[in-house]
Amino acid sequence: MLWGVYAVGYTLYTTIYDDVFKIRGVYGFMVLDSRGNPTVGVRVTTQGLGVGIAYAPSGASTGKHEAVELRDRGEEFGGKGVSKAIENVNKVIGPAIKDMDSRRQWEIDHKMIEIDGTPNKSRLGGNAIVATSLAVAKAAASTLEIPLYMYLGGYTANTLPVPMLNIINGGVHAGNKLDFQEFMIVPAGFNSFSEALRASVEIYHVLRNILKNRYGLSAINVGDEGGYAPPLENISEALDLLVEAIREAGYDPGSEVALALDVASSQLYIEERNVYRVEEKELSRDEMIELYRELIDAYPIVSIEDPLYEEDFEGFVELTKNIGNKVLVVGDDLFTTNPERLSKGISIGAGNAVLVKVNQIGTLSETIEVVKLAFRNNYKAIISHRSGDTEDPCIADLAVGLGTGLIKTGAPARSERTVKYNRLLEIERSLEKPYYPGFTVFPAKPH
Ligand code: PGA
Ligand code: ZN
Repeated sequence: MLWGVYAVGYTLYTTIYDDVFKIRGVYGFMVLDSRGNPTVGVRVTTQGLGVGIAYAPSGASTGKHEAVELRDRGEEFGGKGVSKAIENVNKVIGPAIKDMDSRRQWEIDHKMIEIDGTPNKSRLGGNAIVATSLAVAKAAASTLEIPLYMYLGGYTANTLPVPMLNIINGGVHAGNKLDFQEFMIVPAGFNSFSEALRASVEIYHVLRNILKNRYGLSAINVGDEGGYAPPLENISEALDLLVEAIREAGYDPGSEVALALDVASSQLYIEERNVYRVEEKELSRDEMIELYRELIDAYPIVSIEDPLYEEDFEGFVELTKNIGNKVLVVGDDLFTTNPERLSKGISIGAGNAVLVKVNQIGTLSETIEVVKLAFRNNYKAIISHRSGDTEDPCIADLAVGLGTGLIKTGAPARSERTVKYNRLLEIERSLEKPYYPGFTVFPAKPH
């Protein structure tokens, strides 16, 4: 008798308990990104009164193999409207995932993938899918009343990421003549995230003064990711400026603050002649590799992203053999956060790190799969923003929750960038024992 009462009570309890995670509502709406373009916002609620809101970011130097953003291509917003994507959230995705358990991320994501039915999420829209996917995770975390990083990484998650801050912008993110897209400082030689960020902010402001005094006021205009976009033409000039700013701010270039590059070389590649256009010269793959070797010898560089164009897996193998023991060789456009492309890279030794952008692949569960795949094969994973981003801080939680130890989220300026840094400061403050991995996340300490 007693057992019977217990059994009924327990069943009732778990039913009620599980029900709180059920998705009650999915609501898509339009917001603006940091470039002033429309993007997709999604609000997911659960029966247990959990609420998750997420915004889709948007890239400019997008890889060929990325999930596709659905844009209206109509009159409104110069064709960049997202009303079709939002309609897909409200009329297709919402009804399909209603009543599903918000903790069943994989199942929910794969439901969307199945309905979409295309290899690049172009029917429902990568923007519709990614915002929903992230909002589902946030709603589950909110139902549990725990932060997103803890929901993803458990109660013991405590690794803060080393930030790679893009403080000089070039390429398609800026109106200058710098061929490489991103010149980053990497404050790895500190004991905590907050100290590392403080140093970065100080360097950012010193650099501002140097640029203003040397090149005039227009040199401190900022590019898409909050870095300065000075009228430089020369790659080594930009790197010299970073070293100078680090020193002048009172830090040691190398042992405290290292450098990193995102070449975004698909933008420099001329397919017909199989060459890269760099500083008015045409360079072959071998000459590019030689250029990187020289740069690594001359500067305290710890990471180079997209050094070769997005289809050159073999070139990445060659380069990784050459410099992979010294720096991270990062695939962004090469891998596009795609488990299949990363697997291919791993099997031949192309690169030793993957840049992770949730909207490149389109769902949180595929993103987690990529990070796990990387870790299982001794590749590093760098959680990344997009050049068009929003005030959604969730990649900060992703970096801590997935324990990547690395994040790339722009300069310490412009709210769509600082919101991520501020969230990391908040997480660091709230942790019992935060851990800052420093140089351990790179193949070697720079000289
Ligand atoms: P994107 O640039 O967001 O414009 O693609 C960022 C990057 O290339 O890392
Ligand atoms: Zn990149």
